[in-house]
Amino acid sequence: MNKKKLLALALGAVITMTAFVGCGSKDSASKNGDLKLTIYSGLMEDYMVKAVNEFQKETGIKTEAVRMSSGEILTRMRAEKANPKASVWFGGPADGFIQASEEGLLEKYESPSAKDILDEFKDKDGFWTGIYVGYLGFVSNEKLLKEKGIEAPKSWEDLLKPEFKGQVSTANPGSSGTAYTTLATVVQLMGEEKGLDYMKKLNGQVKSYEKSGTAPARLAGQGEAMVGLSFLHDGIKYREEGMKDLVMTAPVEGTGYEIGAVGVIKDGPDQEAAKKFVDWCLSKKAQELGQTVGSYQFLTNKDANAPEKAEELKDTKLIKYDLDWAGKNRTALVEKWNKSIK
Ligand code: G6P
Repeated sequence: MNKKKLLALALGAVITMTAFVGCGSKDSASKNGDLKLTIYSGLMEDYMVKAVNEFQKETGIKTEAVRMSSGEILTRMRAEKANPKASVWFGGPADGFIQASEEGLLEKYESPSAKDILDEFKDKDGFWTGIYVGYLGFVSNEKLLKEKGIEAPKSWEDLLKPEFKGQVSTANPGSSGTAYTTLATVVQLMGEEKGLDYMKKLNGQVKSYEKSGTAPARLAGQGEAMVGLSFLHDGIKYREEGMKDLVMTAPVEGTGYEIGAVGVIKDGPDQEAAKKFVDWCLSKKAQELGQTVGSYQFLTNKDANAPEKAEELKDTKLIKYDLDWAGKNRTALVEKWNKSIK
């Protein structure tokens, strides 16, 4: 195993954050009796905490959440299959949810609130429902680029230029839904053989494989990498939070995107509360919470207002991302990627 992969595994062992939040209102608390809920969440921590707090306040359901990357959530759900500890998977690209439903880890639930979600953003069989949409791209540090007299990458090919050697940060597609979106995008654009060959060449440019998909954008913001492969809205969040040198670009060939989803974990201990959570998080009000804490994804509820800060991303050229294919081929493709970069 090469050094970069070892680093990704070591980082994977870092303890995940748990959010415990206070009590809900008296009215809703009595209505919901003694319901409680445990959630595994792929969202940014502050967004997760905000959502959990609001849900608890509105419903009185005592809710606990743990932040993990998509691959980690899947691994946890598999390990707990016989005795699940959590009842909702909240956030992260739908590819992972498709794989989970193929493995019998998700419970079908067609929420009455799903009528407000456009058909293209929900599973026709009801295993998951989309809550947001994020576009993949290049998050670069303009100051570092200027120092070297280089322009921000504008195409997938640009990333292979000698000046970016050792300067690209990405995540491991086994642990990160973002990085899996990158892998599936490249393979869909170039075909399997050429796509894996491209990933092998990209490996020569990569400084580090991170555990989570937001880390590459953050590392670029901190000046530790010239380019991070992340969702572009994560780059905007870091720029708004003070990493002023960040500049976002997307490949001219087109880029992939995620439908961030929510689903009920099969045989989870709190099915009733889980369904209430899904109903809640599909609402306009709940979807608009992300932008109050710097999460600028586009939204799937047809009445919800997209964040103004996402305006700069709206003309991004997208590929026709085959989500079903990406979900069903996830394990096999990650395995092929592992072999190709050895
Ligand atoms: C961030 C983004 C989300 C994305 C998630 C994926 O939280 O804001 O839009 O779904 O990362 O995380 P992962 O670590 O699995 O790549």
